[in-house]
Amino acid sequence: MEQFLKEVLRDLNQSPKSLNSKYFYDEAGDKLFQQIMGSVEYYPTNCEMEIFKTRTKELALTLKNGFAEFDLVELGAGDATKSSYLLAELHEQGADFTYMPIDISSSMVNYLEKNLPNAIPGLKVTGLNGEYFEMLQKAYAISSRKKVVLFLGGNIGNFKPDEALDFCKRLRTLLKPDDLLLIGFDLKKHPRVIRAAYNDAAGYTRDFNLNLLKRINRELKGNFILSQFEHYPSYDPSTGACRSYLISLTDQVVNISDHTFHFKENEYIDMEISQKYSVEETDAIARAAGFKPIAHFYDSKKWFLDTVWSGV
Ligand code: AVI
Repeated sequence: MEQFLKEVLRDLNQSPKSLNSKYFYDEAGDKLFQQIMGSVEYYPTNCEMEIFKTRTKELALTLKNGFAEFDLVELGAGDATKSSYLLAELHEQGADFTYMPIDISSSMVNYLEKNLPNAIPGLKVTGLNGEYFEMLQKAYAISSRKKVVLFLGGNIGNFKPDEALDFCKRLRTLLKPDDLLLIGFDLKKHPRVIRAAYNDAAGYTRDFNLNLLKRINRELKGNFILSQFEHYPSYDPSTGACRSYLISLTDQVVNISDHTFHFKENEYIDMEISQKYSVEETDAIARAAGFKPIAHFYDSKKWFLDTVWSGV
């Protein structure tokens, strides 16, 4: 709460104004994101699901990489829908591994610990509830086995490119040379397809953005009038940046707790980046962060990439 208020005040005091999309995910935001993923326009989830459903054997072999035993750590596991295909396959192949899902939601972690071993009898699950880096350190503290780390969903795209590189560098400092990282990147493609994915006809993405204003109203004593902001999604093929803005439709004043913010007509709030990459760019990030790309897994349209990096 404290941190949320601090960041909102800091980001709205800057020019241009911005808000951090990590705060999209309250209860209503989670539900809207589910609806986005179910919309016809939003392709990344289905593409990555296709990879996990159809390339499972090769994925499992690549990730085992000849090692008899390891821990499979997933950053932001959620309900583990995609990874459960991999878990079942690794289990079937007789791999000796423990699944360590990391999630900020304790109910998700409890759910996985309880339900996955029912779905895949004999599967070992050690849930870790908390922030990625803290929990990854904990995973190393509780087990000295080789780690295979999953970071799926194209979540890396919600960092600006320089932040994404810093994130990968930070991961590299924790991973050992034998460890592997599987990371999902949404790829550059026809701009029309990308823009449509962030501008769905049902308006779920619009509501997803506006929901953060609602959250600020409720949790931080704000008084945003939602109808005075319009969702504006854009995709720039020259940079690969897909961005969502909220445009102020009028000159207006908004109060948050005891703070006052002025919005000019047509002024924007920078809400979210969903960066798209070329395969070459992902390879370059791997190398710049001290990893070596060792495998590329694509969906049939080549719209999404799950790439495997080693620590050497
Ligand atoms: C979670 N993340 C990868 C999604 C994305 O595609 O950037 C969040 C999202 N924002 C709008 N639609 C989906």
